[in-house]
Amino acid sequence: MLYAIKLLLIMGNCLKSSSTISSSNKDTSNFKFPSPLPSWPAGGDFASGKIDLGGLELHQITSFNKIWSTYEGGPDNLGASFFEPSPIPDGYSMLGSYAQPNNQPLFGWVLVGKSNTNDQSGNILKKPIDYTLVWANNQENSAYFWLPTPSDGYKAIGHVITISSDKPSLDKIRCVRSDFTDETEIDNWIWAQVTKESANGLNVYGLRPKTRGINAQPLSVGTFLIHNSTNDGESSLPLACLKNQNLTFSTMPNFPQIQALFETYSPYIYFHPKEIYLPSSVNWYFSNGAMLYKKGDESEPILVEPNGSNLPQGGSNDGSYWLDLPVDEEAKEEVKRGDLQSAEVYLHVKPILGSTFTDIQVWLFYPFNGHSTAKLGIIDEISLGKIGEHVGDWEHVTLRISNLDGILYRVYFAEHSGGKWVDSCLLEFEKGNKFVGYSSLNGHASYYKEGVVLQGVGDIGIRNDTGKSDMVIDTGARFTVVAAEGLITADVVEPPWLNYAREWVEKVEKFLIGDLKTAFEKLVNLLPDEIYGEEGPTGPKMKNNWSGDEK
Ligand SMILES: *[C@@H]1O[C@H](CO)[C@@H](O)[C@H](O)[C@H]1NC(C)=O
Ligand SMILES: *[C@@H]1O[C@H](CO)[C@@H](O)[C@H](O)[C@H]1NC(C)=O
Ligand SMILES: *[C@@H]1O[C@H](CO)[C@@H](O)[C@H](O)[C@H]1NC(C)=O
Ligand SMILES: *[C@@H]1O[C@H](CO)[C@@H](O)[C@H](O)[C@H]1NC(C)=O
Ligand SMILES: *[C@@H]1O[C@H](CO)[C@@H](O)[C@H](O)[C@H]1NC(C)=O
Repeated sequence: MLYAIKLLLIMGNCLKSSSTISSSNKDTSNFKFPSPLPSWPAGGDFASGKIDLGGLELHQITSFNKIWSTYEGGPDNLGASFFEPSPIPDGYSMLGSYAQPNNQPLFGWVLVGKSNTNDQSGNILKKPIDYTLVWANNQENSAYFWLPTPSDGYKAIGHVITISSDKPSLDKIRCVRSDFTDETEIDNWIWAQVTKESANGLNVYGLRPKTRGINAQPLSVGTFLIHNSTNDGESSLPLACLKNQNLTFSTMPNFPQIQALFETYSPYIYFHPKEIYLPSSVNWYFSNGAMLYKKGDESEPILVEPNGSNLPQGGSNDGSYWLDLPVDEEAKEEVKRGDLQSAEVYLHVKPILGSTFTDIQVWLFYPFNGHSTAKLGIIDEISLGKIGEHVGDWEHVTLRISNLDGILYRVYFAEHSGGKWVDSCLLEFEKGNKFVGYSSLNGHASYYKEGVVLQGVGDIGIRNDTGKSDMVIDTGARFTVVAAEGLITADVVEPPWLNYAREWVEKVEKFLIGDLKTAFEKLVNLLPDEIYGEEGPTGPKMKNNWSGDEK
């Protein structure tokens, strides 16, 4: 089996984040949102700067003391910088250091901790008993990376970095009692000594919990891992993350706070100048002749009620019902083109990472997904006929907002078979702190830059094109919260279409790809199943990423 290799051929106006990290030793986040952030409506523990995990209190720190920088290796070969949180509030201790690549402005956070009055035993945190040196840069620009050795029953959460070869003081950092920790996995790539596949196998990665989802207790601490692939397998990493032992969701934003957050950060989503299959509201789709088919009763489809109230509820995607365009050819062509005027976004608000973050998933509905386009060597654009076409297309982007400070830290741009987390400091902003998203021509995958993305091998593959046009949706002006988890369920009524578990597509006959397959064998092997209509899209709530994490 061949695997798709993603090639980024960004030809448009790509965002250059040219700022380098300042050379002073005290650094506060030097990325600033274009406009000052509002103060959020009052209520609850949202944006209070801290969270109590049930005895262990955490404070989020976004100002840093730089310990070491290197200007080679890592993303864009610009090196990376390593920091300690500073200042640390009285009574709190460092749990680990922070690092990021130099190809973006300083923008991040790390948690520090103290045990509070709910820690009866007073021993959730403990000093390490020793350190091991995991890596040293012995050149003139020297740096030493230490792994704390925890006492029995405790886990290390992060590294200490020094510029002298002396072991750091045992008072420098704390390890955490195992019942407050959980397993980590590798997240974003921060640095490698030479190139990503460098011979010495030394890489620096961000960490995230292995278990993630709405009700999952583990959370990220914002620390990084020095990973030596000769020593460390990927199955069990030497650093742990934390676990929220008191998942009460009290840090989740309430309804007015959610509205204020979305009005602040809501994206403008741009459609390609050649796009003809635009989004519409679900209600518009239903009101304009969408039909509900029942297996065994194919000849007698029924009209869907404008509010979807006659859609079968619950059950599973068992093929017993499906939706399709109006039967009348003229009406069908019209509905395929959607209706930008009516289009709105549907928000799903959910706790993630032990309730330290809120995800706002922004779902957009398109009545029709147009055909795929290929690039074959010097031939730039070949329409793949009916391949890729299907009715009923759900797409999304996700805003990840910290419940500790209300900052939008990352956005997930979903592309069906994958997706990409982008740090906010790399986003394109428009009108205050609203960011720009692009919907690709025909297929409607979402991207944060305009240009062409080629999925294939060499210069052969499926091309996804994005660009600006006067077709755009200001999602902040047209949104409905259709589902919410955590404390915030009041005021949210789930519409009937959300609990329709079957497919939003017609029953597709598998395309006869035989001939195509011989001609474009290489290409065809690379295409995701969804492109052949073998796997029809269900509604947003039926996807794994609804209650799980994005990736
Ligand atoms: C759990 O959280 C609730 C609400 O924030 C708080 O009142 C309670 O004291 C906490 N329990 C523990 C054991 O920390
Ligand atoms: C990785 O670990 C191996 C085995 O312990 C060691 O020989 C090698 O020097 C380490 N690599 C680096 C870059 O420290
Ligand atoms: C949906 O619309 C029908 C009329 O078309 C109405 O009778 C019904 O109450 C509505 N249901 C909901 C849940 O709004
Ligand atoms: C291109 O778009 C298709 C259809 O929208 C999607 O399935 C695929 O994942 C996208 N490819 C990349 C590399 O983003
Ligand atoms: C979302 O989950 C579905 C499975 O339910 C999966 O097919 C799809 O690739 C996921 N999307 C992204 C963007 O991760």
